[in-house]
Amino acid sequence: MAKVKHFLKFSDLNIDELSYIFKRAAIIKANYKNYKRTWTLEDRTLVMIFEKASTRTRLSFEAGMNQMGGSAVYLNTRDSQLGRGEPVEDAAQVISRMSDVVMIRTFEQDIIERFAKNSRVPVINGLTNEYHPCQILADIFTFIEKRGPIEGKRVAWIGDSNNVCKTWIQAAELLNFELNVSTPKGYEIEPNDIDNKNNFFHYEDPMDAAKDADILTTDVWTSMGFESENKERLKDFASWQVDKEMMGVAKKDVLFMHCLPAHRGEEVTGEVIDGPQSVVWEEAENRLHVQKALLEYLLLGKQ
Ligand code: CP
Ligand code: NVA
Repeated sequence: MAKVKHFLKFSDLNIDELSYIFKRAAIIKANYKNYKRTWTLEDRTLVMIFEKASTRTRLSFEAGMNQMGGSAVYLNTRDSQLGRGEPVEDAAQVISRMSDVVMIRTFEQDIIERFAKNSRVPVINGLTNEYHPCQILADIFTFIEKRGPIEGKRVAWIGDSNNVCKTWIQAAELLNFELNVSTPKGYEIEPNDIDNKNNFFHYEDPMDAAKDADILTTDVWTSMGFESENKERLKDFASWQVDKEMMGVAKKDVLFMHCLPAHRGEEVTGEVIDGPQSVVWEEAENRLHVQKALLEYLLLGKQ
């Protein structure tokens, strides 16, 4: 099988490819805002496979494909053979013969890796237990739009060492910014998730991690698939809430980010997420623009 370019984790793209995608996303976004078509994916079909719930990822990929002249097919594990034990490898063979690109939201990273190995077309990670690379593309694009290059900046992650946090770690290494992480005891990042110790700093106290940050970001305390731990996590994470006081130790022009959906009153106060430094709605919207650039790049290369 010819070599196919996938986006299974953030580090699947190099710095040159990332810079291109951010620039192209800005052009595609401007076209969209001016009611100008970017119909580069005419007649192309995206298959989206969901094993977990989604609002933003489904909508941004489906609307994105339609807006580029293509179409999107939605499959989930409840009403397809995917939930009835058909091997991932077999599903990949079949699905990739009927489509041009596949997006998958699933549990273990291994599932998407196995799918990709047997796919004739590019596969995009729409979230796994380990990574959420499309989210961090949108987050960094949002930062660049508001503040310019992210190189040398400081990002503070407060809360769970989850899929979004692990993707920030890869991004920090590739794009050379500093990542401060504070998690409660027992929820720390595993040492093998940190390839480059020059960009990663762990803090026991979330206030120390937040100090002088350019971006202060968090996520739910209980990710999808971990619901049975919810009660315990509510107690363990109680001091890892982003509130006004924490925003106050960050840089004056700090941006607050959250991939959404959020639980106001848990990982973030209503005052912060609805406050003037929050860019959560732009972040969500930018999923659309940046993923259009990603789809186009994986299918057609640089334009
Ligand atoms: N942020 C994000 O991926 O949202 P959804 O779960 O709604 O897709
Ligand atoms: N960490 C969250 C992100 C949801 C978009 C989860 O995996 O549930």
